[in-house]
Amino acid sequence: MMRTRYCGELRPAHIGEIVTLCGWAQRTRDLGGLVFIDLRDREGIAQCTFDADNPLSGEAAQVRGEWCLAVTGRVRERSSKNKNIPTGEVEVEVTALRVLSRAGTPPFEIEDDVRAGELLRLEYRYLDLRRPVLQNNLKIRHRAMQTLRQYLDGKGFTEVETPMLTASTPEGSRDYLVPSRIHKGKFYALPQSPQQYKQLLMVGGVDKYFQFARCARDEDLRADRQPDFTQLDIEMSFVDLEDIYALNERLIANLFGAFGIDIPTPMPRLTWREAMDRYGSDKPDIRFGMTLTDLTGLTRDCGFAVFSGAQAVRCIVAEHEFTRKEIDALTDYVKGLNVKGLAWHKAESSGFAKFLTEAELAAICERAGFAPGSTMFVIADNSETLVKTALGALRLECARRMNLLRADVFQFLWITEFPMFEYSEEEGRFVSQHHPFTAPLDEDIPLLGGEDLSLVRTKAYDMVCNGYELCSGSIRIHDAGLQARVFELLGIPEDEMRRRFGHMLKAFSFGVPPHGGIGFGFDRLVMLLCGTQNIRDVIAFPKTQSATEPMTGCPTAVDKKQLDELGIKL
Ligand code: AMO
Ligand code: AMP
Repeated sequence: MMRTRYCGELRPAHIGEIVTLCGWAQRTRDLGGLVFIDLRDREGIAQCTFDADNPLSGEAAQVRGEWCLAVTGRVRERSSKNKNIPTGEVEVEVTALRVLSRAGTPPFEIEDDVRAGELLRLEYRYLDLRRPVLQNNLKIRHRAMQTLRQYLDGKGFTEVETPMLTASTPEGSRDYLVPSRIHKGKFYALPQSPQQYKQLLMVGGVDKYFQFARCARDEDLRADRQPDFTQLDIEMSFVDLEDIYALNERLIANLFGAFGIDIPTPMPRLTWREAMDRYGSDKPDIRFGMTLTDLTGLTRDCGFAVFSGAQAVRCIVAEHEFTRKEIDALTDYVKGLNVKGLAWHKAESSGFAKFLTEAELAAICERAGFAPGSTMFVIADNSETLVKTALGALRLECARRMNLLRADVFQFLWITEFPMFEYSEEEGRFVSQHHPFTAPLDEDIPLLGGEDLSLVRTKAYDMVCNGYELCSGSIRIHDAGLQARVFELLGIPEDEMRRRFGHMLKAFSFGVPPHGGIGFGFDRLVMLLCGTQNIRDVIAFPKTQSATEPMTGCPTAVDKKQLDELGIKL
C-alpha cells in the first residue's frame, strides 16, 4: 500500500505520526523557499509544508495544479490554523516527495464554486468529479443504495436482474432500439422499465422482488430527467394497497433516517382529483399552502366579461404584496402556459375591482380568503384543466419568489386514485395514464362498459416529495379476461395485442397471484438527499439536455461495415 492515510483524515490526534498521503496538488504556494502544497484526495485537503531549509523545497516549488503526488512526512501542529477546513489545525512536514504523474493545465479550476459552464465540465467529467461536491454526491448515492438494499433484504426481498435487451414495453415514452445482427430488420428495445419482467417474476413465484434497474427512455429532457436513469424497482405478491403504502413509507423513512432526516409516517394521501383541485398538479409541493379556490359559482353572473364568459374561474392568494413589475412578470409567465391573461387584486390597487360591484368583489374576496397584505391572482378560461395547471404553476412561481421553498423540509405524500385513461388528442383515442397493467378500483370496474372512460379510477399511486414525482406504481390486473378487455378499450387490435402482449396473457392463464409494485426514480431520491435540483449532479456520467455525452461524444457515427452487418442502410 502506497498510502497510510487519506489527506482529509488528518486531525490534531495524528500529531507526531509519520504519514504517507497520495492525491492531487490543489495549489502550490512558494513564499521564497517556504513552500506549501495543498494536497487533495476524496476525503479532503492536507497542507504539506516544505520549510525553507528543506532540500525538497526547490522540487516542491515546481509542482503545478493537478499533478498527482505521494508525500511522506510527520504530522505537526500548524503555526497559523485554518478554522475553515477540518484538517486546518495540522500540516505535514514533508521528508519525501514523489511525483506520480504530471498534469497539463486543467480547463477549469477544481473547486466547488467553479465558474466553468456545465458543457465544458461534462467534457472533462473526470476532472469535474474531483470536486468535493460531486465526490460527496457520489458517496451519498452509494450510501442510499446500500441502505435501501439492506432494508429490502431484511424484509425478505430477492434482488433479481432482468434483461437489458428486451421487447418494447409500453411505458408511455419512446423506446431506444437496438438492431439485431442475427435477425436482420428486427430490433430489441432497451427497457423503459422492467415492468413486464417483474410481473412475470410474480407469476414465477418469486413473491418479493427488487432491483436497481437501469432504464432508458427517449423523451424530452428536463432538470429531473435523463435518457438513461436508475429505478429502484419493486414488486410484491399477495398484497393490496395498504401493504404497499406501509412497506414503501418505512423504506423511505429508513433511508432518510440514515441521513438524519426524520420522515413522519403514515404519509398524508390525496386523491388525484383532490390534488388537481387544490394544487393544480399531480405532484404538489405541500411545503406551503396557497391552495386553489374555485370561483366559478360566484363569477358566472358578475359584471366582468372575462370572468362571466369563462367556464372555469379559479384563484390563489399569495400572502405577499407583489409589485406591479412582479405582477407583469408573473403575467408573462402564465401567458407562456397558454392562458390569455392574469387578473390580480391587492388591497390598495386591483386589476379587476373596477369591473365588479362592491358585493361581487366582497364575495370573491371572502371565498378566496383574501386579506390585506396579500395578492389574489385569478385565471379564467374555458378549459378547467388549463386553469388548474396554470394556477398550479403560478403557485410554485410565487412560492419561489417568496422564498417559501425551504430545502431542509421534506413533505412527502401519496397521490392515489389516478384515472385509468386519458384522452390523447394526438392519437384520437384513450391511452393508459400509467400503463395498461394497472388495476381499476373494484367499484369502478362497471364503468369500463360505460361511455366516459375518463371516469374510471385505478389502484395506482405516486409518492411525491417537494414537487417531485419520486415513484409510481399500482396494484396490477391479475385476471387475463380483464387484461384483454383493457387492451381492447385502449384500441389495441387483436393481432397486435397477441404479438405484443401474448406472453403476458398466456402467463396469466397459469395461476397468477394478485400483485403490485412500484418504481422509484432513484436519481430523484438522491437529488433530494444531496439538496440539488439538477439530476446531472447525482450521476457520475450524465447526458446533456440534448441527450449527448460531451466526454465520449456519443451518440456517434458508426462504420459502414457495422451497418452492413446489421443490414442497415442510412
Ligand atoms: P414510471 O414511468 O412512473 O413508472 O417511472 C417510475 C419513476 O421513475 C422516475 N423516472 C425518471 N427519472 C429520471 N429520468 C427519467 N427520464 C425518468 N422517467 C421516470 C420517476 C418516476 O416516478 N414500471 C412503472 C412502475 C410500476 O408501475 O411499478 C414505471 O416505470 O421518479
Ligand atoms: P382585457 O379585457 O383583455 O384588457 O383584460 C382585462 C383584465 O383581465 C386584465 O387585467 C387581464 O390581465 C385580465 N385577464 C384577461 N384575460 C384573462 C383570463 N383569461 N383570466 C384572468 N384574467 C384575465
